[in-house]
Amino acid sequence: MNSPGLWQERALEEMGLAPLWVRREAAVAATTPTVQSGELWEALQNEVRQCRACGLCESRTQTVFGVGARNPDWLFVGEAPGAEEDARGEPFVGQAGKLLDNMLASIGLARGQTVYIANVLKCRPPGNRNPSSEEVAQCRNYLMRQIELLEPRMIVALGRFAAQTLTDSDSSVGKLRGRVHRLEHGARNYPLIVTFHPSYLLRTPEDKRLAWQDLCLARLTYAAL
Ligand code: URA
Repeated sequence: MNSPGLWQERALEEMGLAPLWVRREAAVAATTPTVQSGELWEALQNEVRQCRACGLCESRTQTVFGVGARNPDWLFVGEAPGAEEDARGEPFVGQAGKLLDNMLASIGLARGQTVYIANVLKCRPPGNRNPSSEEVAQCRNYLMRQIELLEPRMIVALGRFAAQTLTDSDSSVGKLRGRVHRLEHGARNYPLIVTFHPSYLLRTPEDKRLAWQDLCLARLTYAAL
């Protein structure tokens, strides 16, 4: 299915019509990951695969490192693998993943092309409970090293755990969204947009409009880079 570009989407919105993912329709075909690993990347992947730094290693089926382009323009960061991600070893492959794919398509992006998708935690918390602060503290370094190696041009934090980890704050998504943050890491300074987690949006569809505004802000920020 062809998805409309950003400006078509905005025109739709000006006419009072929300983009498709806001209306909860349209599935977008998943694309094949295109990661080409360099040595450092492979070393990091291996380290994550063998990680036993917290108790989640006991219950995981496998670690979920991330998926997408090795030199992406965009990095989307979620919370932690769920049951389907734990089984398949890829982030966002369940219902929330379908919505994320639609969110990406609405701003002209697709999984595996100019996008990389990762989580704060690389292992599934049992029963899909929230990550503990100890687990986030143990796993954060892996995410930061992924950022260093990926060097994305834009970062989008999906939900509270990604937002708080990347802004180093304990504010809510409601307070952090709607503006451009800066993540200073290594020699780089990354523009960072905070928005709602797709799982939250599935439960709270009335906030999809706010998420759409966040994605438009992300797209405009990217366009001005
Ligand atoms: N939710 C997340 O935050 N990440 C996934 O990979 C799946 C669901």
